Amino acid sequence: MTLKNTADRWGPVSQAFHWLIVLLILCLAIVGLTMGELPKTPKYFWVYTAHKSTGITVLALVLARLAWRLYAGKPDPVPGTPTWQERIANVTHWLLYALILAMPISGWLYDSASGLRPFRWFGLFDMPKLSPPDETLRNLSHEVHELGFWVLVALVAAHAGAAFYHHYFQRDATLLRMLPRRSPRMVDNTPAAPAIPVVNLPEEPPHVP
Ligand code: HEM
Ligand code: HEM
Repeated sequence: MTLKNTADRWGPVSQAFHWLIVLLILCLAIVGLTMGELPKTPKYFWVYTAHKSTGITVLALVLARLAWRLYAGKPDPVPGTPTWQERIANVTHWLLYALILAMPISGWLYDSASGLRPFRWFGLFDMPKLSPPDETLRNLSHEVHELGFWVLVALVAAHAGAAFYHHYFQRDATLLRMLPRRSPRMVDNTPAAPAIPVVNLPEEPPHVP
């Protein structure tokens, strides 16, 4: 078994990166959207530190994932995919990469420019600051962090919607090849037979005057 991506499927390393990052971003979103409601007392500061530490972990994972992607390439498009769909998918994927980099970087900048004490990454070591205290940068990075999140939500909705559309309506291997289990749909990587079988009609009878 190869760890790299092959012509017809994503390899285990790319799959692990994809689903681990999805899971961590889901946790970051839930905690990020709710932590503002917590009382601003030292008792709850660990929630902010956990959000920040997990966010920095995502940054490291995305950089490693991009390096792996450059090394391992990507599978060929599923046969039968129109060129326009392939182009939209490519643009969406690179926008997703840009956003999952922009989210942790803007969070880190926001934390840095706020002039707070350095936070300890999961209590292990102090994270360096990216900038000295700076009100303008603080506001700007906060905006990017908040707005970027909603752009990410919209893109992920379109992206996941497209994956499910391919799976349930096109009935091709797009989603299955990002999952660990092999499937008969992936053997030749072509769309499965339509749900309604095509009846082989007999040839037209010879014309009898
Ligand atoms: C992929 C990574 C990240 C995601 C998806 C994420 C997501 C979020 C979300 C959804 C919010 C709530 C925004 C709102 O109020 O509408 C938030 C808030 C926040 N995030 Fe992140 N975050 C990430 C990384 C980071 C990092 C690395 C840091 C700091 C090192 C950070 C620091 C913060 C802070 C301080 C807030 C509170 C902002 C406020 O006071 O309004 N985040 N994050
Ligand atoms: C239920 C949610 C999701 C599903 C079902 C899903 C499914 C998929 C599938 C099937 C592919 C491969 C597409 C292909 O072969 O052309 C893919 C690629 C990708 N996904 Fe997702 N995804 C989901 C959520 C996410 C999220 C939350 C993110 C990021 C925030 C994300 C980022 C990406 C990226 C960047 C790629 C492109 C990989 C590359 O070209 O290197 N996905 N996804």
